[in-house]
Amino acid sequence: MSDQFKKQAAERAAEDVTSGMRLGIGTGSTAELFVHALARRVADGLNVIGVPTSERTRELASSLGIRLTTLDELPELDLTIDGADELDAHLALIKGGGGALLREKIVAGASAEMIVIADSSKEVATLGKFPLPIEVVPFGLKATRRAILHVLEDMGLPQNLDLRGGAEQPFLTDGGHYILDACLQEITDPGTLADRLVAIPGVVDHGLFLELATKAYVAGTDGVKTVL
Ligand code: 5RP
Repeated sequence: MSDQFKKQAAERAAEDVTSGMRLGIGTGSTAELFVHALARRVADGLNVIGVPTSERTRELASSLGIRLTTLDELPELDLTIDGADELDAHLALIKGGGGALLREKIVAGASAEMIVIADSSKEVATLGKFPLPIEVVPFGLKATRRAILHVLEDMGLPQNLDLRGGAEQPFLTDGGHYILDACLQEITDPGTLADRLVAIPGVVDHGLFLELATKAYVAGTDGVKTVL
């Protein structure tokens, strides 16, 4: 069922794309459904150029005939369309379940608009049930982990941090970094947490996307809802 809803949200977002747009293209299963919907429109004559947010998305979009470039070639984008792991009523997001948060945030930040596509299971009153991904450099992992735990303790948040993939074979992002997933349950002050995490030297970025999304299409049993 959730796949059907993801498809509805993805197809609704594809309708917003117009010829000439410079697009950021997200990562994950919902974003992939968008890539398929976009490819169908491209086959019908829509003229767009895309910047993918991961190697996975690059391969899929390119195999479906979508014209692609890099953010270095095209540093200003009109619209990014991407999925999310959680979104609240103010369009604050947790992203990074698929490990592409850094490129996703850079691409979204370079875009005039960002549309989030999701099924209704991703909607929450307060962010935090989904573990917050924190991307860190491999050098000094233990010291960075300690610094993050200190911030969590100081903010009264649970101190649960898991190295994605485990110590034997940590998951590596497209940028060659590790991810620590923080199980926080409820993030009541995402702005302060975001600021304090990025201030830690070994932290590259985190999955809190605040004031980046401008619209969301959320699909559920009542159809596709627009969140502004
Ligand atoms: C990848 C992401 C994805 O957008 C997020 O994990 C949602 O994925 P899905 O559409 O598969 O549920 O942030 O880094």
